[in-house]
Amino acid sequence: MQAVLDYLAQNQNRFLEELCAYVRFPSVSAQPQHRGDLLACAEWLVQHCQSIGLKARLCPTAGHPVVIASTPVVPGASAKRPRFLVYGHYDVQPPEPFELWTSPPFEPRLEGRSLFARGATDNKGQNLAHLKAVEAYLKTNTPLPCDITFVLEGEEEVGSKSLGDFLLANQAELACDAIVISDTGMPSKKHPALTYALRGIAAFEVTLHGPARDLHSGIFGGTVDNPAMALCQMLGKLRDKNGRVAIPGFYDQVKPLAAFERKQFARLPYKESDYKKLLGVKQLFGEKGYTPIEQRSARPTLEINGLTSGYQGEGSKTIVPSWARVKITTRLVPDQNPARIIKLVQQHLKKLCPPSIRMEITAGHGAEPYLVSPTSPHAQAALRALKSAFGCEPVIMREGGSIPIVNSFKKILGADALMLGLALPDDNAHSPNEKFDLDCFEKGQVMSAQLWQELSK
Ligand code: BES
Ligand code: ZN
Repeated sequence: MQAVLDYLAQNQNRFLEELCAYVRFPSVSAQPQHRGDLLACAEWLVQHCQSIGLKARLCPTAGHPVVIASTPVVPGASAKRPRFLVYGHYDVQPPEPFELWTSPPFEPRLEGRSLFARGATDNKGQNLAHLKAVEAYLKTNTPLPCDITFVLEGEEEVGSKSLGDFLLANQAELACDAIVISDTGMPSKKHPALTYALRGIAAFEVTLHGPARDLHSGIFGGTVDNPAMALCQMLGKLRDKNGRVAIPGFYDQVKPLAAFERKQFARLPYKESDYKKLLGVKQLFGEKGYTPIEQRSARPTLEINGLTSGYQGEGSKTIVPSWARVKITTRLVPDQNPARIIKLVQQHLKKLCPPSIRMEITAGHGAEPYLVSPTSPHAQAALRALKSAFGCEPVIMREGGSIPIVNSFKKILGADALMLGLALPDDNAHSPNEKFDLDCFEKGQVMSAQLWQELSK
């Protein structure tokens, strides 16, 4: 094991260069023009996995390819030898708005211990940390106590549309004891974390149609409904003054927070002034009766993600726009169900839409919320690995983000996810100037190296 740790310590410079090569691919899954970049990134991964001694292949899907890479078969190994999957994603969020980046999103820039680039923390740096840990075992001929298969997909940021079918088709090959995922966060470098719950998600788009074309607002305004105005009025009714989602039935399936959980949340490091500073706000806003940690990880929400209508260019243009569109996601907690929530939203918006407007609603991706035991033997093993690598007591927490595929792992492979996030709160995931901390990168590698020992005990 010492050889593994020494190998990691000695190769950090090269690992950094490799991370730079990885983040240079503009693998933006939401934008069709980047299809080729996703393929190139997946091909790079296959090559990289092969170069570190894994058996790797590119698997085409209906969408972007999946990369599968496995540790070599150990001759004569017992049938009981443990087997783990490491899940990660090589696709990234759109980098826009470009003008807010200090340096171009796909040209990595190192400043102190921070590597700035889109995808650095979410999720390339985090999955590369696991690859480097396994590389250290393979290159130092240190026997691994378990078999490991990497599943790296290119559609996580758009809802993992193809991966479910892929899991079904490759169920036997992917059978495992647990799935290790580093695609979440930790409160600080002194608080490494095991995440035991994620929120689910339901996405949809609403388009309101008014006049057949943009109209002169002086000549026709006053006689025709304005879809932008109608949309604002409808959206304004989706939240009440207590910060609750005002859609009938929305909270029906929500399980109340248990007292022990609220106690646990209250122990997590949190300072309101630091949090406000991080977010750039003077005042927080959230559902009454819950703390910010509860609001952002264990309570459901509805957010407008994008809102478009009319003229967006410089100066003014006097029109009544022909249409208005909003992109919305709701975050869900146990036991809410995305399909049911979409139905409730549709019914409610239909009621709110005035007869002078034609409404179109399209449902997008959805994922169920996820909750797993934080006290299982695997979870205990993970906590030991975190403690040993980071040198401090780990915390257990719930997270507000979603990783759509975790539920399919459970349903199709019957395996639970062990979520050991390496992202810091100020990593700017999904925002301009995303970064990854190189201490998290290195400690993440050490954590992964220890994890295989702890999990296989
Ligand atoms: N890494 C995130 C998920 C995450 C972040 C979980 C922080 C917990 C804490 C992942 O890449 C992500 O952004 N997922 C999307 C999924 C969606 C597009 C279906 C999300 O949560 O918005
Ligand atoms: Zn993400």
